[in-house]
Amino acid sequence: MIIVGISCYYHDSSAAILKDGMLIAAAEEERFSRNKHESRFPAEAIAYCLEEAGVSIHDVDYVTFFEKPLKKFDRFYQNLLHISPDCKENYLYSWDSPYKEKLWVKEDLLKNLKIPEEKLLFIEHHISHAASAFFCSPYKEAAILTVDGVGEWATATAGKGTAYWEGDQGKNEIDLFYEITYPHSLGLLYTAFTAYLGFRENSGEYKVMGMAPYGEPRFVEDIYKNIITVDEEGGFRLNMDYIPIYKTVPWDAKKISDKFIGLFGPARIPESDFFTDQTHPKQDHPNWSAAGAKLNKHYADIAASIQVVTEEVMLKMANFLYQKTGLKNLCLAGGCALNSVANGRILRETPFEKVYIQPAASDSGSSLGAALYAYHVLLGKPRKFVMEHTYWGKSYNQNETLLAIKKFGFSYDEIHDTDKLAVLATEDLLQGKVLGLSQGRFEWGPRALGNRSIIADPRNEAMKSVVNEKIKFREPFRPFAPAILEERAGEFFDDIEDVEDNYPLRFMLTVYKTRQEKKADLQAVSHEDGTGRVQTVRKELNPLYHRIIELFGEATGVPVILNTSFNLRGEPMVTTPENALNTFSKSGLETLYLNGFVIRK
Ligand SMILES: [Fe+2]
Repeated sequence: MIIVGISCYYHDSSAAILKDGMLIAAAEEERFSRNKHESRFPAEAIAYCLEEAGVSIHDVDYVTFFEKPLKKFDRFYQNLLHISPDCKENYLYSWDSPYKEKLWVKEDLLKNLKIPEEKLLFIEHHISHAASAFFCSPYKEAAILTVDGVGEWATATAGKGTAYWEGDQGKNEIDLFYEITYPHSLGLLYTAFTAYLGFRENSGEYKVMGMAPYGEPRFVEDIYKNIITVDEEGGFRLNMDYIPIYKTVPWDAKKISDKFIGLFGPARIPESDFFTDQTHPKQDHPNWSAAGAKLNKHYADIAASIQVVTEEVMLKMANFLYQKTGLKNLCLAGGCALNSVANGRILRETPFEKVYIQPAASDSGSSLGAALYAYHVLLGKPRKFVMEHTYWGKSYNQNETLLAIKKFGFSYDEIHDTDKLAVLATEDLLQGKVLGLSQGRFEWGPRALGNRSIIADPRNEAMKSVVNEKIKFREPFRPFAPAILEERAGEFFDDIEDVEDNYPLRFMLTVYKTRQEKKADLQAVSHEDGTGRVQTVRKELNPLYHRIIELFGEATGVPVILNTSFNLRGEPMVTTPENALNTFSKSGLETLYLNGFVIRK
């Protein structure tokens, strides 16, 4: 039984392939098209999935799509009626891509896929999210919470998943018994603030999260008083006078309402310089001014405030769901499940004992969720699969790698022994070099977890600006992650329990507080508030990466390295050896470890 799952036509299009319920491959289209948050039909991701599974499209039993396009179109249409006649701009946009495609999704998919109509299944957006987490988790039963911008109508759902089997007799179910619908959306609220703070919708949300620790959440009460009303169950309503969601798709800062501006002041100039007394205590930003720093602090306070509100709403939802289900496991999905600070609070502050978050928690992961839902619920097949790692993307062999290196004209050393490679990489790190590490299959989801990573010494604060400004050419406030040996995570971070079962930690989807006595060792990978977005590394899942961290730990007493995604500002992570070599040549990276080849500048 072969099932291909697809998500596309909004943002983060992707494909995944299941063979008898086992995941064989999954990839986001942006990794091939090189266009970040690519929304097009995922032709290349599908081609890759079929190739990895060794099948053709004619062998595929079902293709599943991650939402119901007509139901979604119904929302667009009602949205237009709602704001009519003040809707010319939205109306025109509706007939432009990607809205136009909503009407013709089925025809478009059939034309592109060249499969008979009966093989194409449409699964609801939030069911796809829910299935993407529950059926990748190890749990037989779990509460499920999905929170995103918007699907067809739902913007958040809560319910439970069960998979009870004895031998080959059993049943899988997902019951989402609670939902919040458009226009009331926690994801769109966060996106509104993202646009106000000068970042791109559906992409700059990370930057708001990165900016938040530099501010004080002094506008939280203003937000509750004017913009969002939340009940004890985590249900909420947005005030459309402040967040006029009907008129704001697509978002841009110009559509911020006057009332919103009245509350917070003019929107931040998009992509303007960000510096405060905290980011640049020596006032050494090239465009430094006291007034600029004060204004940026104001924006950081707003970022901190919406971040706190988001955390509190998600906590209330999770607590309500615990009361409702009494289950000890929680599966989280939807774009808001990529909010690692909120995830950390759910892990620590709710009664749930275990939390699973599928690493591609936003819409890209819904391709996989739709396929899993069809296999386990619609077709009633038992479960065999647990997603233990994120390495589901394409790998490139030695010949392909060598050809690319020669094309670029670099000299190289060829070393295929893991230990020798790790020794060399550790020596480089100890000399303060910043390395590119590209090996094996690329990661599924937005995090680089050691196969398409940039790595460096985490101990020195100055490494932050070296990597942000000289290597990746991005904003100075963007944080880096500490990657630590799984077995030693508890020594460096507070409150880590049952580390082997802590999937959010393994997938770098949560934050933990650095232990007081270890703060000096982790200066380049700690947020302003003393937390870190930790990744735990297990030997059997990534031997080279693990060995590098282990050797670095033996040399320094700190079994941690700085990890960040291998890409330049605004670009998707590198995919092919050519991409890696290209980024290596354009950036300040000093050594590249590429599929068993070591290339130095
Ligand atoms: Fe979604």
